[in-house]
Amino acid sequence: MAENKEIPRQIAILSSVSPSTLVSEIIDHGKDYVALMSYYAGAMMEVETKFRVLNMEFNAQFARNPIESIKTRIKSPASIYEKMQRLGKRPTVANIESELNDVAGVRVICSFLDDIYRLADMLAQQDDVKVLRVKDYIKNPKPSGYRSLHLIVEIPIFLSSGKRPMRVEVQLRTIVMDFWASLEHKLRYKKNIPEGQLMEIARELSLCADIVSRTDEQMLSIRQRIENAPD
Ligand code: GTP
Ligand code: MG
Repeated sequence: MAENKEIPRQIAILSSVSPSTLVSEIIDHGKDYVALMSYYAGAMMEVETKFRVLNMEFNAQFARNPIESIKTRIKSPASIYEKMQRLGKRPTVANIESELNDVAGVRVICSFLDDIYRLADMLAQQDDVKVLRVKDYIKNPKPSGYRSLHLIVEIPIFLSSGKRPMRVEVQLRTIVMDFWASLEHKLRYKKNIPEGQLMEIARELSLCADIVSRTDEQMLSIRQRIENAPD
């Protein structure tokens, strides 16, 4: 189960990083840091469960799964530290919670384009979920070609001390969008590309995103035609 693995993993990562690269605030307040990460893990699990329930209900009603798979992750201490630096904030436990929206991440890989919006709406309608921000990179793709629907949601977790609202980043995308984003992400780490080729490669990657995204539209149209065919 995720909750059994996540916290020891955080502690392992924390202790494997040399103190010189991590700021003293995190080291001195390691216990608070691990507690905060456990709250994020709890909120992440709540959101994941909500999507699993919706998938199950949809399957029972319409005999198909709108969700292909769900991936969850807690941001690593190194990424948290790097992002706090980028924001020019001291990486204290309090600042991490107030500044970052993406410590807990849930990625929902959907079968079809319309499943993305249906699932996002169904999540937003739940009365313990507050949608704080929506970024629609499907209607407005990034210059890189990246497409996905991003939501920042706030969801309560219930602790011995009471209710605690936590923020979770939800990324909804189709299999096609995920395929492109995964490969593009891998290519990003190839650092020794000659300067002169970078622009051309970026242009081609963006073109690939446009091409594959047409498949999403066609697959949706095919599904709709099949659904509307007379029995
Ligand atoms: P971050 O500091 O990266 O979290 O940026 P942000 O807070 O402005 O959020 P943004 O809406 O840009 O989305 C961030 C997340 O979306 C990233 O962590 C990636 O998972 C994904 N993402 C955004 N742009 C791209 C892209 O061009 N390519 C890929 N592969 N993923 C992207
Ligand atoms: Mg991020």
